[in-house]
This record gives sequence, structure tokens and C-alpha cells, in this order.
Amino acid sequence: MAYGKIPDSVIEAVLKHHDIVETVGKYVHLSKNGKYMKGLCPFHSEKTPSFTVTPEKGIFYCYGCGKGGNAIKFIEEIEEYSFPEAVRAMAEEAGIPITWSGSTDGQSNEGNGERDKLVQAHELAAKLYHYLLMNTTHGQPALQYLRGRGVTDKQIDQFLIGYAPPEWDTLARFLEKREFDSALMEKGGLLIGKQDKSGYIDRFRDRVMFPIWNRDGKVIALAGRMLGEGQPKYLNSPETMLFNKSRNLYNFHHARVALRKSRRVVLFEGYMDVVKAWSAGVHNGVASMGTSLTEEHAAVLQRNADEAILCYDGDNAGQAAALKTIPILEKAGLRVQVAMLPKGMDPDEFIEQNGAHAFIREIIEHPVSATKFKLLYAKKNHILLEEEGQKNYLLEAVRIIAVLDSPTEREFYLKELSREFDMSLDSLKQDCFNERQQLQKMKPQRDNNDNSWNNGRNENRENRRSSSAPPVLPAYQVAERKLLAQMLQSADIANTVHQKLGEAFHVEDHAALAAYLYAYYAQGHDPDVSRFIASLQDDRLERAAASILMMDDDMPFDEQLLDDYVNEISKVPKLREIEQIKEAMIKAERSGDNLKAAQLGIEMYKLQARL
Ligand code: UTP
Ligand code: MN
Repeated sequence: MAYGKIPDSVIEAVLKHHDIVETVGKYVHLSKNGKYMKGLCPFHSEKTPSFTVTPEKGIFYCYGCGKGGNAIKFIEEIEEYSFPEAVRAMAEEAGIPITWSGSTDGQSNEGNGERDKLVQAHELAAKLYHYLLMNTTHGQPALQYLRGRGVTDKQIDQFLIGYAPPEWDTLARFLEKREFDSALMEKGGLLIGKQDKSGYIDRFRDRVMFPIWNRDGKVIALAGRMLGEGQPKYLNSPETMLFNKSRNLYNFHHARVALRKSRRVVLFEGYMDVVKAWSAGVHNGVASMGTSLTEEHAAVLQRNADEAILCYDGDNAGQAAALKTIPILEKAGLRVQVAMLPKGMDPDEFIEQNGAHAFIREIIEHPVSATKFKLLYAKKNHILLEEEGQKNYLLEAVRIIAVLDSPTEREFYLKELSREFDMSLDSLKQDCFNERQQLQKMKPQRDNNDNSWNNGRNENRENRRSSSAPPVLPAYQVAERKLLAQMLQSADIANTVHQKLGEAFHVEDHAALAAYLYAYYAQGHDPDVSRFIASLQDDRLERAAASILMMDDDMPFDEQLLDDYVNEISKVPKLREIEQIKEAMIKAERSGDNLKAAQLGIEMYKLQARL
């Protein structure tokens, strides 16, 4: 298993120090519910809590999305860490000395070594470019350019903005001198191999450089802007082992503090918008980079905020992008508002022309609701001076309003329409009602996420039961789960089951869990659910274990019950045999072979009697 380098004792200490309730509680509001704690799952969007924590066993499990495991697993999932990264972070926090050869000294394994080298190279490159911008004559035109655009030196320092000179190999030589492997630097997007394979050149030349950080504040990519006009305006690092465009957000690392505090994020389209907005006082601004916002971005944001304000460019492209982004954010569970800019302006231009104060006061603090934005957007497509145009707009507007779950909200917007166009509220309501029925037909089964109109984060007790009823399992599967639940908590029970049943569980994951568990106890470990889960290193098995442990197990367990379960499991092959005979018998009957059918019938009864 891959984490061989981390001593067991460290994992034990980490789990001992990080209580599951405390660990999870930093991210999720938990409330007590009998033996469990409950809360809204941070890994999928839901309005009624199906996320549970069992303090006594040190595990979490979500009935909605199936994620589960111990405290380390939770940190892995929520922080998007690998297992070693999570252990390291938790050990650091607990003051547990990190003695194993970890992921930053480059010795652990190839993968990590390469990543670390590449991060180092990016950090150095960003510093080099920043130095060249601030301290050399080469950098002067770029510095003038930035200052001309209203970027202060303070911002240049904070965002570590730099300048890549026009020479072919400034960075290539710099990295070579420090013995970075050029092939790896090419793989990481900093250098480009020459056609004739005679060497390497810099990817970025004669551009203003913006370093891109990951959440931990490590430089993992770069973006370079031309000083003048031309194509491409921005050149970004390619996707590499460090940089994933669909997941990384520009400035997330800086914005995270403000963002978590206010539970609100402001989304921009461009690097320059983020930088300028920061100087105007918007410290919770981020931007996606050269792609539209993805579901993965939205998931990252949803873990840190409840509300998103879209502040995209005021041109058609920007507004269209905003419209496309709204449902992605809403689906992730964020409340969306749109801060609208005057026609054709982007945030950076607005700030330059009108100042920081106006930007905050008029734009950021005055967003419109997502519905209002959709209505305004739709309006632009119709010629309202013409009857036909008005009618078409009204029908489209009703369609926009009809998707709202809250009757109050629907009425609010319908009333506004009725006033604006001097229409009777009743007819608008009727159209809206018809539209909703239409929608209902198209959506046969609504999932548990959107059956409540009250937009989110309250714990709606009546609705609790509706959250994903567990599937009904065949008796032998229930027996397997019940047995494993006991085995996980008692070495004696595990031993008995080992003797009686071995690994003859029928569900593959159950058999695997049993096998690992026997081995775990054989190594002399005491029962410790959370530690056992840490030893699995397999997502599916970890979830299976967590889900098994979350079953209500208040029933007293004894030898008799154990035997019942074992029997239930052992008779499965015989049941299958009986089933096969039964099928053959029915077949024989159908084909008129009554003798054969009778023989099979007798055989079947004999087998059944033996059970
Ligand atoms: P914009 O064209 O709106 O640029 O692209 P901008 O942010 O306003 O930049 P300035 O103010 O002209 O300097 C928005 C974003 O789209 C990506 C960049 O992330 C940019 O910030 N983009 C744009 C590219 O990746 N490549 C390009 O060639 C252009
Ligand atoms: Mn711009």
C-alpha cells in the first residue's frame, strides 16, 4: 500500500489527536441526534441533512452521496488532499513531529518528487519574473504598462506580478543552472523543447506574468499578458500534473480567508479584474482561467461559501457567460446574484473610470437576483415596442419565473411583470401554473435536493425522512453487513466468524473487508474502526466500512445471532442451486416433459428440506 513511508504510530497519533466531531465541525455545522451528529453534507448539495458523524466510532458517513470514512479521510475529501498530504497537515496541526520522508523532500516516490520539483521551479520562476519587473531596465516598459493601467506597486508585490523578457532562454538557463531537469520543466509547461531537439526555450516571452497559486499558496502555473494588443492576449500554462483548469481558481488562495468569513464569493472573468477589485476592497474575488466555470469549480466554492456574486464583463459575451454560469452554481447549492456593469465595461475599466468607492457601492453591493438577471437578459432579445415582442417576452418571462420553487418569489416577480406591462396578475399566474405543470411532467422523479423551496440551509425536520431511503437488501447481504459491523468492533467475534465462515462473504467488498480485518487483528491490533479504515487505502472499501458502521446496531449481539447470520450467509449457494433447479423445472413443464419436471420437483423439495 502506497503510504508505506508513514509510520503506523503517526497515523495512530493523528487520529487520536483529531477528534472526528471537532475535525468535521470546522467545516460542517453539526447538531446532536441521539448517538449521532447530523449536518448538511459538504460534499453534495442537499437541503435536509443526511450527513452523519458517529463520535464513538470516529467516523462520518453521508446517506446521500455515500462518502464516508475517518477523520483523515474527511480532511482528504474536503481539502482535496492525498492521504499523505492529509496526514502531514493534521500532524503539523497537532504538533506531531514529521519524521517520515514526506512529500516535500522529493525522496518519497517518483510522482511526489516530480511534483515538488515542479512547484519549486514555478516558485523560482515567479520570483525571477517579479525581480526582473521591479529591478531591471528590461522590466521598465512592463512596469510602466502596469502602472498605466492603475496597478499599484503594492498590488504588484502582493500578486507577485512579473515580467518575462523577450529573450528565448532566460528561464531555461536559470533553471538549468539550478539543475532542474529540462524535460520535466517542459512537461510542467515552463519550457518548450526545440523542434530539432537541440535544447529548450522559454514558454513565456515578453509578457507581463501573473503567477497562479493553488489553495496552499504554492505557485503551480503562470499566465502571461502581452504588453500591447495581439493574439493570444493571455498565454496560460497548459494543464499539468500541478495545474487543472477546471478545478483551480485564480486568487482562491488569497480570497479564502475573506470568503469563508463572509460565506460569499465574487466571481470575475479576468486576472486584472481580480487584482483591481482587490485594491478596491473586494478581498473575496476569484476568477476561472481561460475556461468557463465548471462544476468542479462550483464544488470548491460551495465548500467555502453560501453565496456567489457574478461580476462578469458588461459586454454580450460576459452576460452570456453569466447566464450560463448561474445554473452551475445553483446546482452546487450556492445562492447566486449578479452584479451588473454598465454596457460594455469590465470591472477593471469601471474601477479605473469611476473609482473604488463607486465600484463597491454601485456594483458589488447592488447585485440583482439570478431571476431578475435572467429577466433583464431575456428582455434584450425582444422588441418591446411591438405587440408581438411584448407578448413573446411575457411568455419567456413566465417560463423563467415558473422554475422558482417558492410561491412567494413567483408571485413577487409576476406582480412586477403585471405592473410593468399592465397585465392582470391572474392571467400571468394561470400561465405560470400551466408552465409548472408542464415542467412537472418533464421531470418525473425529483431528487431529494430540490423538494423544498426554502432555499437551503435550514434543518427542515419534516423533510428529514424523505432523504434517500436505503435500498432493501437481500437477507444474506444484511447478515453480512451485521456480522462485519460486529467484527469491526470485536476481535473475538472476528475470530469466530473467521473459523465458521472464512472469507465466504458473497458481496465482493464484504469479502475484502473481512480479509483485511482478519489480517489487521492477526497483526496484533486492537479493534479501532477509524484506524482500520486508515489502513485500507481504498476509497470504495472505506465507504463500505463507514456505511456498515452507520447501521443501527442496538440489538444485543450473542452467539445465537452470530450463528443465524452465518447460516443466512452459508445457505446462499444452496438457495442458488434450488433456484436453478426451479428454473429447469419450469422449463421442463413448459416443454411438456412432465416426468423430468417431477424429478426436478422432488430434488428441489429435498434440498429445501435440508435448509
Ligand atoms: P478578457 O479578454 O476579458 O481579458 O479575458 P481581461 O481579463 O479583461 O484582460 P485585460 O484587462 O484586457 O488585460 C478574460 C479572461 O479570459 C482568459 C484570461 O483568464 C482572462 O483574464 N483569456 C483571455 C485567456 O486565457 N486567453 C486570452 O487570450 C484571453
Ligand atoms: Mn479587462
